Amino acid sequence: MELDMKRLLPLLLTLTLYPLTALAQGDVKRGKYIMGMGSCVSCHKTPKRKNADLGGGHAIKTPFGTFYVPNITPDKDSGIGGWSEKQFIEAMTQGVSPEGKHYYPAFPYTSYAKMSREDLVDLKAYLDTVAPIKNAVPDHDLGFPFNLRFMMFGWKMLFFDDRPFAPNPDKSDEWNRGAYIVNGAAHCGECHTARNMFGGLDLSKKFLGNSNGPDKEKIPSMLPKWKLKEYFMALRIGMKPDGDFLGGSMGHVISQTTSKLSKEDLKAISLYLSEYE
Ligand code: HEC
Ligand code: HEC
Repeated sequence: MELDMKRLLPLLLTLTLYPLTALAQGDVKRGKYIMGMGSCVSCHKTPKRKNADLGGGHAIKTPFGTFYVPNITPDKDSGIGGWSEKQFIEAMTQGVSPEGKHYYPAFPYTSYAKMSREDLVDLKAYLDTVAPIKNAVPDHDLGFPFNLRFMMFGWKMLFFDDRPFAPNPDKSDEWNRGAYIVNGAAHCGECHTARNMFGGLDLSKKFLGNSNGPDKEKIPSMLPKWKLKEYFMALRIGMKPDGDFLGGSMGHVISQTTSKLSKEDLKAISLYLSEYE
């Protein structure tokens, strides 16, 4: 039998191009799942306003001053409406705004930089579908010298590792999936790792806890002490092996992120945590 290349070619082209076009448009449903993974709402919400999950204005008190989290709905004036996919990905992975402003690490782009392009494209596709909210957010109220935003350029040179996530070839796919989520979108280390006097994560104490967390919270170590199943339970319903429940900001992480993950993803995280060395 002779293959009719004239007929086969268009079919082959469609098959190879299909994943590319699907990717460029972004998968909205998947994007919503990724937003849960990143707990965007726990910081970008509007206080005392219903259905303004991403409208901004929530204040975060840190040892460096108070941050007023911006509006990331598609509103043209007060939100990020009109941002291109490229600008969004640069903000999330390079910590830089469309005007070239360097972001403070109170925005955990230091972890989001590990997210895959596919995840970010889907996330942007979802954010584009959210109802725009008009809400102009006040400027941050930071002490000297942190009020000088250009200093963040030097900060990034010292403390920001913008390399994408690199899987460990000695570990299983499941372990690597857990590592990707914990160190990327779920940004667990942003709370569970102590910071140096410049606000950089002290990676020699990775995941060992932070006695001076955001809003003066004391954050315990999350290093392995529990079995895989115990991590799974704690992150799914908030119950620790001793029957006590996790609360504080971890309560938000559980309700926004870990309780909403698929069983496979939560198992992957639990595996990564229980084997962490
Ligand atoms: C721990 C709190 C926190 C979380 C979680 C968080 N953000 Fe933010 N985000 C901030 C802060 C604070 C800023 C402002 C940074 C600055 O002004 O330098 C910010 C800024 C931004 C900006 C830039 C907005 C602008 O107007 O320039 C974007 C885009 C953004 N965040 C998207 C997200 C997305 C998407 C998620 C979830 C995947 C997320 N953020 C999760 C705290 C957070
Ligand atoms: C916004 C800050 C924050 C983030 C982000 C965060 N945690 Fe936590 N975590 C806490 C706090 C605070 C506690 C203590 C809660 C309590 O004891 O009630 C805690 C407790 C825990 C504990 C229990 C430790 C113990 O000894 O009781 C585990 C396990 C844990 N977190 C895992 C995670 C994982 C996994 C992630 C990422 C998916 C994560 N955390 C992200 C703040 C955070």
